[in-house]
Amino acid sequence: MSDVVGYEVRGRIAVVTVDNPPVNALSHAVRMGLIEQFDRAVGDDGAEAIVLIGAGRTFPAGADIREFDQPLRDPHLVVIVDHFDTIKKPVVAAIHGTALGGGLELMLGCHFRVAAPTARVGTPEVKLGIFPGAAGTQRLPRVAGLDHALELIVMGEPIGAAKAFDYGIVDEIVDGDLLGGAIVFAEKILDNGTPRRVSSEPKEGIGSPDQFAEVIQKYRDLANRRMRGQESPHEAIGSVIDGLEMPYERAVAADRERFPRCKDSDQSKALRYAFFAEREAAKIPSIGKEIQPRPVETGAVIGTGTMGGGIIMCFANAGIPVTAVETEQAALDRGMGMIEKNYQGMVDRGRIDAAEMTRRLGLISTSLDYGSAGEADLIIEAAFEDLDLKKKIFTQLDGVAKPGTILATNTSYMDINQIAAATDRPEDVIGLHFFVPANVMKMLEVVRTNMSSPEAVATGMRVARRFGKVGGLAGVSHGFVANRSRAPLVREAIFMVEEGASPAQVDEVLREFGMPMGVLAVSDLSGIDVSWRMRQSLAYLRDPEERYVHLADQLCELGRFGRKTGKGWFSYGDGGSLPVPDPEVDEIAAVVAAKQGIERRQIDDTEILDRCLYAAVNEGIKIVEEGVALRASDIDIMWQYGFGFPRWRGGIMYHADRVGLPEVLARVEEFHEAHGKLWEPSALLRELVASGGSFTGA
Ligand code: CAA
Repeated sequence: MSDVVGYEVRGRIAVVTVDNPPVNALSHAVRMGLIEQFDRAVGDDGAEAIVLIGAGRTFPAGADIREFDQPLRDPHLVVIVDHFDTIKKPVVAAIHGTALGGGLELMLGCHFRVAAPTARVGTPEVKLGIFPGAAGTQRLPRVAGLDHALELIVMGEPIGAAKAFDYGIVDEIVDGDLLGGAIVFAEKILDNGTPRRVSSEPKEGIGSPDQFAEVIQKYRDLANRRMRGQESPHEAIGSVIDGLEMPYERAVAADRERFPRCKDSDQSKALRYAFFAEREAAKIPSIGKEIQPRPVETGAVIGTGTMGGGIIMCFANAGIPVTAVETEQAALDRGMGMIEKNYQGMVDRGRIDAAEMTRRLGLISTSLDYGSAGEADLIIEAAFEDLDLKKKIFTQLDGVAKPGTILATNTSYMDINQIAAATDRPEDVIGLHFFVPANVMKMLEVVRTNMSSPEAVATGMRVARRFGKVGGLAGVSHGFVANRSRAPLVREAIFMVEEGASPAQVDEVLREFGMPMGVLAVSDLSGIDVSWRMRQSLAYLRDPEERYVHLADQLCELGRFGRKTGKGWFSYGDGGSLPVPDPEVDEIAAVVAAKQGIERRQIDDTEILDRCLYAAVNEGIKIVEEGVALRASDIDIMWQYGFGFPRWRGGIMYHADRVGLPEVLARVEEFHEAHGKLWEPSALLRELVASGGSFTGA
């Protein structure tokens, strides 16, 4: 008897329940259990129809991803789905939670489908480097039409029950008791003699690929834009096309060959690694389940500049009332104007409707008085990057905030230990480092100081989730985890331009690798002067023995601050956004190089990539060694969600593992020899190479 799939009969309806916490993944045991219990229902004279449901929080949320590292074991899910076609008793799927991937394919195999209003359904397989290989690419177009099917299959985003109903994926929405409603639905089917619907049968309107050339191209273009370099969306489209060209059985047979190829690809392995790394990042070993995050029902944000405005939107988007605090009315008006403009943009793009915009704006109140932040459960300071200013603000906040308020600073690199020490409650102070734009980027670095309490840190991690972001823990260190590990990449990019590469060559190599933008074009976008000012304020800390980014300073001294001044590493014409190579930069670089006695040379693309990536990897492993990051995989998640690093490459640390740490160390040593102390190999890297270890287990 299966212990993960239950069976009972209620009246004349058999109820088969998948019970495999936490998400009822369709493991081998569940697949075996489904066969056993469906056979039982078919043979049970007391059962005239069958309802399939998930116990606990969800209908099956897909295949068990952990099994993908092993050979596929019979019975394959598609065999079960196909078997449903032959069952003469009506089978009704009752869906709640998240019916994803194999879960959606299972429900497509059922003859009817009812859902709770809060249910979500989808095929996120492309995000794991695969495609809906249990006939989802064949059945979904027949059920929902080709356009809707491709939308789900290629983009991988789940949809809500109401949309699933509109798409014909769900037949009825059940308010209240889902199982009761599904049983009533099944009885109605029996009483009315409604014929079973078999989703593998040929469907009118599903014709040849030529007929659908336009819609297919639309999704190819979307995939190229949103998932550049990723193969799985194209494999998914290929499988859908097979279904248009071949009868169902042959298309499914073709999928059987396509699926293992995708599953065993490097991209799929990297994407699966990223899936689990993301979940791991949420876990902090020293903070157990007994530590309760503090409730955050209200928020306040100090400062309504670009960052502050984005953070205010995060609160409002999450439905949390927030007070925006500024020192001057004009700044407050500017900040609120920017927020309204951003929301209007979301309405114009159809992301939210006007009523939702009004609701979100209604959650924001404004004030010129710090005292009005006093009752907030969480106050996030987003003032200028000036340590004395931040300390002053925190002392003031300490004076007005109620006991228990979490005080957070959104700094990118300041010493938060010092900021916390400016209050009488350092245990309630944390860093919340948002990425630009704060309301869009999914990463939130939660910074623990020497004194932060576990409750304060747990609250930061919980808030990340409520904001729809991924929280990652960092210790105090210049640039914390994300920016500190990225700084050496920027540094090497600049050095290589001094040495003879062009900004366009450097950026193209990184784009080719999969980065959404080249690193120098990103600097132009955010403003080269930002790090220039930071270098100036920290000049007293600089080691004179270390090579310095003179070229970046020189560009700033010439007023080339990036896009906002029309010129930076590239030029931008009249307010344009497209980086155009500028020969002037080459001339400036030649002068800067000559002053340093650097002989300029041709630099090949491999050197550019290796120096950029391995400089970051070497710093990354030092960050782990020092305990500033909990694990190497957290760095990978921060790069994905903070900097747009291609998820299908796993991350910089995972990439290094795949290349092989001995090879990475050899290159680091080579660069150390050639470029000096900035390339000092990390001790942990040496240790791992000696012991045959790895950063991420890859
Ligand atoms: N396989 C194995 N483990 C899974 C899993 C899966 N499909 N889905 C979730 N889990 C695990 C998570 O790793 C996590 O484990 P830990 O607690 O040990 O970290 C636990 O379940 C809970 O997951 P979340 O923390 O993500 O919980 P959530 O409530 O935030 O989200 C979810 C739930 C929306 C289902 C989310 O977990 C998710 O998106 N899961 C993946 C869904 C998916 O990709 N399905 C398709 C799989 S491929 C497939 O189905 C192909 C096929 O059949 C042929």
